[in-house]
Amino acid sequence: MNSITKNLRSITAIFTFAAMLLTISSQTNAQDKPKGKPWPAPENVVKMKNPVKSDDASIKEGKDLYAQHCKSCHGAKGLGDGTKAAKIDISCGDFSSAETAKASDGELYWKTTDGRKPMPSFKEKLSDNERWSIVNYMRTFAK
Ligand code: HEC
Repeated sequence: MNSITKNLRSITAIFTFAAMLLTISSQTNAQDKPKGKPWPAPENVVKMKNPVKSDDASIKEGKDLYAQHCKSCHGAKGLGDGTKAAKIDISCGDFSSAETAKASDGELYWKTTDGRKPMPSFKEKLSDNERWSIVNYMRTFAK
């Protein structure tokens, strides 16, 4: 092999490698950001019963409220890839994950109520029943 062919080969190899890196980095999204600190809910919260029946009306209400208040960060499918998520340095979580499936309704309700910076609190903005309906809607994201 002469030196020109050799050089061409190594140039091609470098370009292939660079293209691979670009592909990998373009797949990086909100979910790859570091998770926030552990956020365990108190025992009494975990045990809270959802007083709002998960019927079509509640899920529809939850969906509308989610689109208005949550989607910008948590994304249309709850994957944590909303438009605002790009500007947040920690992960917004993934509502389709096994972790969220394991969390009780009370836990999701409590986190929605209190928030934790940069996640806002919805205590004042939404009524109790509205927050429970959002929890009912969040269940539809489960894989
Ligand atoms: C400004 C962006 C933003 C908005 C708007 C927002 N969140 Fe969040 N949310 C976050 C971030 C960031 C976290 C992770 C917080 C942490 O780990 O400290 C989070 C975490 C959560 C969690 C806990 C996730 C888990 O995996 O345990 C729940 C539940 C949640 N949000 C529900 C909601 C709901 C419901 C709404 C709308 C009513 C909402 N959020 C609106 C940014 C947002």
